[in-house]
Amino acid sequence: MSNSPLDPVYCELNTIHKVITRGIRVSLENVKKYRTIGFPNPRTKKGFIDYVRSLILTLDNHHYSEDDIAFPVYQKYAPEAPYQLLATEHHNMLSILNEMKAVLGHLDNPATEAGGLDSLQSSLSALEELWNPHINCEEGHFCAHSLLKSIPEKEQVQIGKKISAHAIKNSKLLSLSLPFLLYNLPVEERALFSQGIPKLVTGFLVPVVWRRKWMPMKPFLIH
Ligand SMILES: [Fe+2]
Ligand SMILES: [Fe+2]
Repeated sequence: MSNSPLDPVYCELNTIHKVITRGIRVSLENVKKYRTIGFPNPRTKKGFIDYVRSLILTLDNHHYSEDDIAFPVYQKYAPEAPYQLLATEHHNMLSILNEMKAVLGHLDNPATEAGGLDSLQSSLSALEELWNPHINCEEGHFCAHSLLKSIPEKEQVQIGKKISAHAIKNSKLLSLSLPFLLYNLPVEERALFSQGIPKLVTGFLVPVVWRRKWMPMKPFLIH
């Protein structure tokens, strides 16, 4: 599936899916490692918790964006897509995300850390199992060339603006969640994605003002 804004068939859905797919994979790989050998130091532990917390927030926002903003518009242009099934899968993933949120609190306490890592690994595995077929279904229906051409540009722009506004309004942790979004994308794709973000944010807030906050996540991000 094409995912560059310069390509003729560009699907924004694919970009956010790519961020979340990497977020789940990296979280799962690392939780398995820390279950076996433990966290190497408190800073890495903090970075890992921040990374998983940002994943939860990003996925939560993405589901809201689809259910309440994008899908009501897509329904007019792709009525055959299985909206009920997708909504049910969002609901099922939300239960897993709520479990994960609760478990992150257990990692702070040495007495509950090992059990917390066990639960987190189970939740992430269950999430990955639901996530991959879910995005294949969405991209199969909504990144189709015919659908992209049939949604008027004005409506596509409105969807994009509403999704950005929602993400900003609902992200109490923008100093973590925005670097999470940007640095889970490969360099070239990140540069293209950044073109839609004000320069003040990508050139000053992220690299200077927020730097100390998101730096502990760096080992889990793409440089
Ligand atoms: Fe979805
Ligand atoms: Fe999606």
